[in-house]
Amino acid sequence: MAIDVTPEQREIGKANFHRVVGGLAQAEPTRRDFMKGMLAGAAALPIGAAAYFGYNADRLDGRPVRTALIGAGDEGGVLVGEHNPRYLEIVAVCDIRPSNQKRIFKGEGKGPRWGLEHHYGRDAAKKIKLYTNSYKEMLEDASIEAVIIALPLHLHAPVAIDCMKAGKHVLCEKLMAWNVSQCKEMIRVARQTNRVLSIGHQRHYSLLYAHAVEVLRSGVLGDVKHIRAQWHRNNTWPLMVKDKDGRDTDRPVRDAHGRIVLRDSWCPPIPPEDREALEKRVAEFGYKSIEELVRWRLFNRTGGGLMAELGSHQLDACSIFLGKVRPLAVSGIGTRSFYREQYRNKEREVEDHVFVTFEFPGPNYRDDCDDVVIVTYSSISTNAFEPYGECVMGTRGTMIVSMEQEVMLWPERGGPTGRSTAVGVAVASGNQPVLDTSASTGPGATAAQSLGQQALGSGPVSRGYREEMEDFAYCIRLWDDKLGYEKDSAGNYRQRLPRCHGEVALADAVVALTSNLAMRGTKASGHRPQRIDFQPSWFDPDSNDVPDAEMVPEPVTV
Ligand SMILES: NC(=O)c1ccc[n+]([C@@H]2O[C@H](COP(=O)([O-])OP(=O)(O)OC[C@H]3O[C@@H](n4cnc5c(N)ncnc54)[C@H](O)[C@@H]3O)[C@@H](O)[C@H]2O)c1
Repeated sequence: MAIDVTPEQREIGKANFHRVVGGLAQAEPTRRDFMKGMLAGAAALPIGAAAYFGYNADRLDGRPVRTALIGAGDEGGVLVGEHNPRYLEIVAVCDIRPSNQKRIFKGEGKGPRWGLEHHYGRDAAKKIKLYTNSYKEMLEDASIEAVIIALPLHLHAPVAIDCMKAGKHVLCEKLMAWNVSQCKEMIRVARQTNRVLSIGHQRHYSLLYAHAVEVLRSGVLGDVKHIRAQWHRNNTWPLMVKDKDGRDTDRPVRDAHGRIVLRDSWCPPIPPEDREALEKRVAEFGYKSIEELVRWRLFNRTGGGLMAELGSHQLDACSIFLGKVRPLAVSGIGTRSFYREQYRNKEREVEDHVFVTFEFPGPNYRDDCDDVVIVTYSSISTNAFEPYGECVMGTRGTMIVSMEQEVMLWPERGGPTGRSTAVGVAVASGNQPVLDTSASTGPGATAAQSLGQQALGSGPVSRGYREEMEDFAYCIRLWDDKLGYEKDSAGNYRQRLPRCHGEVALADAVVALTSNLAMRGTKASGHRPQRIDFQPSWFDPDSNDVPDAEMVPEPVTV
């Protein structure tokens, strides 16, 4: 996502990141216990996420958690494709759309949506129970220990709460819920029912992000005063008719009025079999129309717009980069500038372009309220030249995390040569690691680079979905009902919770949903954009204070 990086500079940036990750492990082995074996040279094996995050399949005693999936659409398909049957066994699926009921079993013939038959074999997959009506029927099966919820946003809280009350542990997709009160209610119900509650912000389980955070914490980037994050897409291309092998032809899809249909993943075509089966029944499942069911992201009642769907992931990453701090204030603007022309999408309520600015506290903010880090976030729908990622800018270097797949790091030198400079890590006086050009050559540099590469694992980079489900299963098997959500005198939970447990995800939801209020305005601001100061009580599950009291969900029957 850097505008003027040459392919050579990109390679240098990646090698720099590897050398810095490896160099930090060599310089500070005590901080990196998990790498000791590798440092001793005893086992030059790639370090897996399980070792890094501190879980393992052995503690499951060969008893994967019996899990049901509720919501077998695009994301449900990815989670099925990524799940590890040593940790989770999918024993039931609930979905109301016939097209997705089929796809979740058959898959798409290629990753990431491999399908249940791919995992379990065709015969074994036949034993997975399919529920095509209310998920409540499924909750009566006492042998189901946990559920994964990948439903539209407005259903997260009501379904998660029902599931926990029925005794199931819950992994619910992000954004945690449609409004902040619902998030707090989910946390309270998890405590009352003593169930594990995990929310699917997968960056918490990505080795790539974990190492990027370590690099930042080491201080080698110097003083960070700005982070730029973005998720840009181009939805202006026509959707093309597919041939019998599923490939695009050169003919655009046209609607009933002969108009060209655009390729917008938030506004997919409605499969005729879903229309036929559900058009007259949608109210039974909490929808006003078949369009609302299939294109739920477009509507305020069912979705949360670009900040809930995309921005929440990246703001989550930014707050981790800055030391798990919460923002101080937000302001922004959101428009429906592309879809304004009715023929393109007359139903769309949510913005198609957003630009939001956050003020975060810097490390010395307590003593000096001028120590502020500015984080900008943009998501647009009409240009994908720079797709998505986060760019962290420090006084000594710049780090870019690109599309959850690679990290590049360049020193800050002034002038155009900075990005062409190879660096490693040296330990300066006072044990402070610094970026250093001399640490980029010689045998030490090669060893550091290979250590850094091993630390990131071999093969394709995992986005963290698999690890998030493994960690969830591990927490369930270790769960001690007696300890529940008890905290020690230092305020830490006394037993292991998922890395993205309810309180962590509550903060992400507060940030995303308050950003919407900043862009859209409130009654008090006359529905005009406004700058909003975040209040600590909004992040506290024990407080009833919320930023979005005006956002009252319509009751849903599911
Ligand atoms: N973590 C990530 O990176 C990521 C990525 C994409 C989506 N998501 C999240 O996953 C969730 C689902 O998104 P998606 O893209 O899969 O949407 P989708 O529309 O493709 O899938 C939703 C599924 O839920 C089913 N459903 C809806 N109402 C139901 C009901 N009452 N009972 C049973 N089934 C019902 C639908 O039939 C559909 O198959 C959302 O919360 C989204 O934000 C997360």
